[in-house]
Formats: sequence, structure tokens, C-alpha cells
Amino acid sequence: MLEALANPLLEGLHEQRIPEPCCIVIFGASGDLTRRKLIPALYSLAADHLLPSHLAILGCGRTDQTTEQFREDMKGGCEKFARAAFKQDVWDDFVQGLYYMPGNFDDDASFAALKTQVLEIEGKHGLPGNRLFYLAIPPSQFPIVGRGLASGGLTYKCEPNQPFSRLIIEKPFGRDLESARSLNRVLREGWEEEQIYRIDHYLGKETVQNIMAFRFGNAIFEPLWNNNYVDHVEITVAESIGTGGRGGYYETSGALRDMVQNHIFQLLTMTAMEPPISTTADAIRDEKVKVLQALRPLSPQEVPANTVRGQYVAGAVDGEDAPGYQEEGGVAPGSATETFVALKVLIDNWRWAGVPFYIRTGKRLPKRVSEISIVFRKVPHLLFKGAQIEPNVLAIRIQPDEGIVLKVGSKVPGAAMKINPVLMEFRYGTSFGAEPPEAYERLLLDSLLGDSTLFTRSDEVEASWRWINRVLEAWQQGAPPDPYPSGTWGPASADDLLHRDGRHWRHL
Ligand SMILES: NC(=O)c1ccc[n+]([C@@H]2O[C@H](COP(=O)([O-])OP(=O)(O)OC[C@H]3O[C@@H](n4cnc5c(N)ncnc54)[C@H](OP(=O)(O)O)[C@@H]3O)[C@@H](O)[C@H]2O)c1
Repeated sequence: MLEALANPLLEGLHEQRIPEPCCIVIFGASGDLTRRKLIPALYSLAADHLLPSHLAILGCGRTDQTTEQFREDMKGGCEKFARAAFKQDVWDDFVQGLYYMPGNFDDDASFAALKTQVLEIEGKHGLPGNRLFYLAIPPSQFPIVGRGLASGGLTYKCEPNQPFSRLIIEKPFGRDLESARSLNRVLREGWEEEQIYRIDHYLGKETVQNIMAFRFGNAIFEPLWNNNYVDHVEITVAESIGTGGRGGYYETSGALRDMVQNHIFQLLTMTAMEPPISTTADAIRDEKVKVLQALRPLSPQEVPANTVRGQYVAGAVDGEDAPGYQEEGGVAPGSATETFVALKVLIDNWRWAGVPFYIRTGKRLPKRVSEISIVFRKVPHLLFKGAQIEPNVLAIRIQPDEGIVLKVGSKVPGAAMKINPVLMEFRYGTSFGAEPPEAYERLLLDSLLGDSTLFTRSDEVEASWRWINRVLEAWQQGAPPDPYPSGTWGPASADDLLHRDGRHWRHL
């Protein structure tokens, strides 16, 4: 077991950077994300003394409720979902800056009313005009609110000595290349690129950031991190749940759009990118974009052999009966939406030539687990006759039990030269004595601080959609998804994808 030498969890993460006083305006404040993630994350930051002393949060939503009702609801959210333990004194302080404003926010009048309300709150809390707008609303509303804020005079230009105005946008950012481009165009009418923070909450996860620390903060991994030593890379993001009552939304999305275009491509770029020249946001994002640009595009003829799409049918997960996708609420009978995707992706550059990246993600799989596995080549010469030596694997566990595990071969005690795999493990919980902060804590803090490293740049989003678009188009003309029983690792065709290359998915 690797032990951390100090316990710098929060200091290392945040380096005690305290943001400037600010007013945070959350659109969609009556929704699930605000109650379950955003306000609990802000509360946890407050509990860790990482928020500025002057801060106000204005929740906006269509639901007609008072500030008092909103505060009560958010208190329940913090008690249930915040990482930091609920403490009455922290809450009493935090709640002083929490407000609610009902409205549709779809016309000039509502943005004028919002401006009045924001100015009033800023006056009351002595805020200098810094504003962070969070769009936790349906994607159809992103352009409307983005435009309304800029034209309603709620924003400042990006200039020295001006208060800051920043816009955080939730996923999904577009549903194909054209819609992503169009959203980028609309937003750029009123906002500078450096003011726009496109969230991919996977980037806020400690283990994902640790990929960079592991690769570029250690001398021993990077020399092996290429096609001379790596046989292949597997990225699995498995969920055991179904659509969770959001079948209507899932019908418009599917696993490729919902998971691969954003989260999994982020994992892929962090794993495959070249060392950046510095740790600035643009230096890192430049390298990530290069990986996306190097993804070998699939022609319509290549799509069937390199992609698998599946859809769950009735089965059992964890011993409990689970219905099929088409029996879930909001799902159309005969739906061709994929709930499982497996892909073989090649990166055409010097480092990764010939190394396949196998990706799989799906719902109603046997367990919830996200992992990147770097599977190394076999030893070049088998010295121990008759021994079965498994390849080394470096497994980066994103969730649950965040950590990194290196699988190495070791002699089994005894007279024979028998070699078995053993694990060298690093787990956050045991090494640092605490669970890592929630992704949304880190992302909210970074956006308050003006650090966009962990947010997706416009060219990054478009480059990933460019690759995904070809697959989507080919699938439209192709066969329907392969069925797989709930509680299994996807359709047999996903296994065949690797078997054809003489490989198999790691047992997780
Ligand atoms: N929930 C998550 O875990 C999660 C994760 C990743 C991304 N997201 C993204 O975050 C956003 C919000 O998700 P959510 O789960 O919180 O959704 P939700 O529970 O359905 O809440 C949506 C919020 O947006 C408001 N809203 C709905 N339609 C609107 C419209 N036409 N105009 C203005 N406001 C409208 C709702 O107001 P009323 O209810 O008051 O009408 C509510 O406050 C979505 O873009 C989603 O894709 C959510």
C-alpha cells in the first residue's frame, strides 16, 4: 500500500486560493442538479472556508416559491447530499446569502427584473459586481439565457479593472456537431471564450486530475506510456442503474452522446495527451485538442466493425429483477436508442500508432465502476518455462474507491517458480485519510477563481463531436442496437470487438 507522506488534501487542491467576492446566479434552481449537487457543493466549500467572506447566491426558476421556501429546500439538500457534515452554524452563515427569484427568463422584461434584483443583492452584501451565472436548465434554454444576460446588461466585458462575468454551461453541449457549433456561435455573440465555462464534471474528479500528476509528476511511468510498451488501453464507464425515471431525456440522447462525446473523451484525452508546455488552461487544452484531432475517423463502412451499440432488455441486477429499456417510462416502443456502446478507437500520432483504445459504457451493467486500464505488452521472452505470466496493468479507478492500482507478477512462495499477479495499490480514502472533494466543489471553486483548465474549450467540444458525428450518421442507416440482458456486461458483440484482436475486456 502506498502511503501519502502528508495530508494535503485540501491545501494541495486549492492552495488556499480564496476567490473574490461574487454574486452567483443559478438558473434552474428549482431543479435536481441545484438541490443535489450545486448548493451542497457550495455549502461544503463554505464549511472548508474556501468561499469569499462576501458571497451571495441567487437561485432562479420557474417554480413559484419564496426565498424562505427555497432556503428550506436547499437545507434538506445540504443535509442529505453535501460532502461536509451538516453544521448548524455553517448553515446559518451560508443561508444569509441565499435568495430565490421566480420567473421564466425568456424575455427582456425578466432580465431587466433580474438585473434589479442582482443589484439589490450586491448592494446589500457589499459585492463589487463580479457575477457567475450557472445554467442548470434544459439545453434548449442555454442560448436564450446566454443571450438575455448579455443583452440585458448583466455582464461586463473582459477588461482589466472590470468586475468579472462568467457563464457556466451544463452538459449536454449540443447533440451533434452542427448544434454544438451553433451554440458556440450564439454564446460568442455576447461572451468572450474566456468567460465561458463548459462543465464536464468528470474533469472535477480527483482521479481524473491525478492522471496528469501520475504521468508528469513521476519519472517512471511516462517512458513506458507509448506504443513500445502499451498493448492497449481500456476505458470502462459502467452504471448499474437504468434511466432513473429520465427515459424521455435519454431517448433524445443515448449512451454515445450522453457519456462518450464528453466524459469518456475527456478520460481518453487526459490519458493520451502529450506533456503540456505549462499548466495553464490553454496549454493543457491545446494538448487535449490535438488528441481529438488525431482520432482516426471512421468511414461508414468501418463503423460496424469498430463500434457496438446495445440496448438492455429485462434481466436482474444485484439479484433484483430489472425491466427492459423499452418498458421504462418515457421510452418509445421499438426505440433504437443505445444504452450501451463499445468502440475501438485509434489515435494516429507518433506515440499511440497501432495501440487500440477500447471504450465501453452502458446502463444496467453488473456494477457501477469507471476505470481506465493501461494494459502493457507481454514480457519479450518467457524465462520461466510453463509459467503463465499476465501482462502488467495500471488501472486508474475513477469511481468508486478512487485510486490507482498496478498489477505486477510475483513469485508464489514455495519450491516451484509459480508467478501470480499481485496488486500495488493507492486509494484516496486510506492514503489521505479522507474522501476527495466532490467534482462540483472543485469546478465551482475554479470558475470563481477564473481558472478554466478543467472546463472544455469550444474547439475541444467541436473536435469531439466531429468524430462522434460520423458514428451517429452511420448508425442511422445501420442495424438496431443488439439486446443484452440487464445485469450483464453488454451484448456478445462487445466481446467480439476485442476477441477479433486476440484480446478480452478486463474483469472488473
Ligand atoms: N441532474 C443531474 O445530475 C445533471 C447532471 C449533469 C448535467 N445536468 C444538466 O443540468 C441541467 C439541469 O438538470 P436537472 O437535472 O436539474 O433538471 P430538472 O430537475 O428537470 O430541472 C430543470 C430546471 O430548469 C428549469 N426549467 C425547465 N424548463 C425550463 C424552461 N423552458 N425555461 C426555464 N427554466 C426551465 C426548471 O424549472 P421548474 O422546475 O421550476 O419549472 C428547473 O429549475 C440540464 O441541462 C441537465 O442536462 C444535470
